[in-house]
Amino acid sequence: MDLRDLLGIELPIIQAPMAGAQNHALAAAACEAGGLGSIPAGMLDAEALETELSALEALTERSYNVNFFCHRTPAADPARIDAWHRLLAPFFAEFEVDPASIPGGATRQPFDAAMAEVLERHRPAVISFHFGLPEPQLLRRARATGAKILSSATTVEEGLWLQQHGVDAVIAQGLEAGGHRGIFLGEDLTTQLGTFALLPQLVAALDVPVIAAGGIADARGVAAAQALGAAGVQLGTAYLLCPESRTNPLHRAALGSPQAAHTALTTLFSGRPARGIVNRLMRELGPLPDGVPAFPLAGNAIGALRAKAESRGLDHCTPLWAGQNASGCREIPAAELTRELATGWRD
Ligand SMILES: Cc1cc2nc3c(=O)[nH]c(=O)nc-3n(C[C@H](O)[C@H](O)[C@H](O)COP(=O)(O)O)c2cc1C
Repeated sequence: MDLRDLLGIELPIIQAPMAGAQNHALAAAACEAGGLGSIPAGMLDAEALETELSALEALTERSYNVNFFCHRTPAADPARIDAWHRLLAPFFAEFEVDPASIPGGATRQPFDAAMAEVLERHRPAVISFHFGLPEPQLLRRARATGAKILSSATTVEEGLWLQQHGVDAVIAQGLEAGGHRGIFLGEDLTTQLGTFALLPQLVAALDVPVIAAGGIADARGVAAAQALGAAGVQLGTAYLLCPESRTNPLHRAALGSPQAAHTALTTLFSGRPARGIVNRLMRELGPLPDGVPAFPLAGNAIGALRAKAESRGLDHCTPLWAGQNASGCREIPAAELTRELATGWRD
């Protein structure tokens, strides 16, 4: 089945969910242009999700996607947190952060029963997951809302696993992609493939439609993905400078500067590998040092440092999530960008 019919959209363009960088305003603009707008729920609780979905539905009656992380929250390991704080000590001193004042707890919430209840009220057309799929009972509740289910695969093995577990389409997330990698069957980053290596192999291996994500920046990239068998595309980085995005000013400045040419995968900001523009924290500690607490527990200390550094106008501790191809980042309305991208698609 054509992806557009499957998801109830006119254009095979998905505005990627981007936790922390957007809300209903960007999603509504992408939906109204005929694409699939996404609400990232990874940093929301059920109450905030309810507010977001109501705000989106006030702006559009079209199909939309709600995106969740589905990790298991780990127990805090005090020894590991101490080691982490020792690694960050020079930054704590410089930015006057008292490590004893850093809150514990999780900065990102996985999909849970309270979130499922919100979905049961709003019945989105599409639900997408990152880091695999939730436990079977929660997945059944998500599916029972009538939504089509998507999830990201970063290897052929992950794509096959997702298909076996009943997803309606697989997002082929290439190594170029900005933000967190959806990797979930292992931790070995050498298994990770570029978009145009992963995409045709997933298309050959799977029966469900495959959506290409990572490094696509313009209509030519959309055409290239279609040529390799994609049923649609999902773009994040290209939407970050749209006026409807909530990309913070330091992040916007970095995206528009030569700094954006150098991205790397790092675990520093959350504990899981994610791609962002290289900044001072990544340069000085190395992007993948030993001893970073498990996802998402690294986020607490970073949040405290980030707030202090940002109050001095510095992006030194800010996650500047971006893919390898920021050439599509322009300050144009998201609807215009969505329609422009779709000109690369041929029926
Ligand atoms: C700022 C930013 C935040 C992101 N946050 C999420 C998220 O919350 N959930 C998710 O599934 N993917 C997230 N991603 C990854 C996107 O879904 C997608 O894989 C990626 O943007 C595609 O690559 P591109 O950035 O080169 O277009 C994020 C990407 C960026 C750039």
